[in-house]
Amino acid sequence: MLLLVLASRLSAQAVAKDTPAARTTRSAVYTEVQAKRGADVYVMSCKSCHTPASHTGVTFATWWKGKTVGDLLGFVSTKMPKNDPGGLDPQQYADVVAYLLKMNKLPAGESELPPDADAVKDVRIEVGAPARGPAKKPPSS
Ligand code: HEC
Repeated sequence: MLLLVLASRLSAQAVAKDTPAARTTRSAVYTEVQAKRGADVYVMSCKSCHTPASHTGVTFATWWKGKTVGDLLGFVSTKMPKNDPGGLDPQQYADVVAYLLKMNKLPAGESELPPDADAVKDVRIEVGAPARGPAKKPPSS
């Protein structure tokens, strides 16, 4: 009985969930408050191995360009921390990914990144950096 009710609920949800216009990381998919929480998670669980430089600029673009936030959240929540994969709460993973987006100077908005890789699997990762060009030019002298 319960199963039937659940099943019909699920299908109703599936129908109601219309695909909105393509979302990207520029569409403000996390909040400032969430990124702040994520920064704490980062300090506790990630900083021992990573520097912010490993999640920004060219490295981030190389790993994640053309992928989705779902891929990123999925990766982080199943493979990180490298010494304890899957060891954090889903909410902590969502928060830390929000922090990664913030590190990449992507805009924050009104609603939090949900702790559910499936829910953000259509959010494409677009980073602010221009496609190519040296980060720094030597001073011309
Ligand atoms: C024990 C060391 C270690 C810890 C702790 C760790 N990582 Fe990693 N991380 C790695 C290594 C090594 C890689 C390179 C890919 C691989 O070997 O899987 C990596 C790769 C990544 C990548 C993909 C490359 C990039 O920088 O975009 C992300 C994202 C990432 N880690 C996020 C995290 C987050 C978030 C945490 C904390 C929840 C974390 N890591 C904790 C070692 C670690």
